[in-house]
Amino acid sequence: MFPAASLLTTLLLAMSIAASPVEVRDSPITLPIARRLNTPSGTINLLEHDQARAASLKNVGTSTLLSPTEAVSYVAAVGVGSPATTYQLIVDTGSSNTWVGANTAYVKTSTSVSTGQPVTVDYGSGSFSGTEYTDTVTLGSGLTITAQSIGVASTSTGFTGVDGIVGIGPLDLTEGTLTNEQTTTIPTVTDNLYTQGIISEMVVGVSFEPTSTTLSTNGELTFGGTDATKYTGTLAYTPLTTTYPASYYWGINESITYGSTTILAETAGIVDTGTTLILLASNAYTKYQSATGATLDRTTGLLRVTLTQYDALQNLNFNVGSNTYALTPNGQIWPRALNTYLGGSNSYIYLIVNNLGTPSGEGLDFINGQTFLERFYSVFDTTNARVGFATTSYTDATTN
Ligand SMILES: *[C@@H]1O[C@H](CO)[C@@H](O)[C@H](O)[C@H]1NC(C)=O
Repeated sequence: MFPAASLLTTLLLAMSIAASPVEVRDSPITLPIARRLNTPSGTINLLEHDQARAASLKNVGTSTLLSPTEAVSYVAAVGVGSPATTYQLIVDTGSSNTWVGANTAYVKTSTSVSTGQPVTVDYGSGSFSGTEYTDTVTLGSGLTITAQSIGVASTSTGFTGVDGIVGIGPLDLTEGTLTNEQTTTIPTVTDNLYTQGIISEMVVGVSFEPTSTTLSTNGELTFGGTDATKYTGTLAYTPLTTTYPASYYWGINESITYGSTTILAETAGIVDTGTTLILLASNAYTKYQSATGATLDRTTGLLRVTLTQYDALQNLNFNVGSNTYALTPNGQIWPRALNTYLGGSNSYIYLIVNNLGTPSGEGLDFINGQTFLERFYSVFDTTNARVGFATTSYTDATTN
């Protein structure tokens, strides 16, 4: 479908040396993103949402990804058309189609071209169906992609308060989403930014920050590089894992220790902006529960600890290559100011580590979700097939 573009990509890839990503500072290629607690029915069931997503992620091939209705999402304002209509799109590293129309209707302009192709993505707890268009897409202030392939939903379920998704996962996740062209992939916004010469490397830097409010512009997405103002220390990279199905996403190998106790021996899992909690394979989750002494809270499905247990919490260490990313005790709890949005009590302390729902050894044994990414800057580097992390000024924050 895009032979010229893919040839160009191949040539440019062949010429590029695996250098460090470009550092982007005060660049037009950054856009703010906001964390939204979306609670159409008053409270959210975080665990149900995240476990449904995890099950869907592990089930590559039968259904594609999910993303949320009653959930916590990082949302970017993305312009489509010329003049542009602005849509609020979930920023999802775990899926790769970009689409609009769930809430705000698609406004066609002179740049809107229907391909006539039906498109469907099943997200486990939601879905959309519609028609694939190409249109001008504007990210941030003035970063414009021409002829970006986007889905325009005619029907969608499971998306309240947002207009769709900007998918920044691997290209292969788009395969099978065009109903009549099951082997065709759809270049993502990152792919097109690169082939149109707007960025020189297919790299996306993600900055999330902890927040205690239901709507906060506490994130930043950087295309084509990283933003050194958003992290401290050095960025360290780890190669994408070869273990399936984690290899289908932004998958890496890591081990996890609680204090000095091994919770999960080195294994493959994923880094995902569309999952809120940190999910661990059930055997690792059980070890974490006994190490912390936490009890299961039946109302929220989350683990909870007493103040005494909280004061005694140790770091939860994510060991990636030769680096350790220590999630502090405060980083392991849900922001207490938001307890009631979980249907929880203000007098409890809930943990953000939970159960993936399946045992380890199945090729996707952990998900480092938003609550991890709010403490560590992350880099999704397609060009060099790697993921990077760095500490931030929020790594040791005590705001939760
Ligand atoms: C990750 O772990 C798997 C399984 O232990 C191993 O085969 C692989 O070499 C490791 N590294 C990468 C980059 O996949």
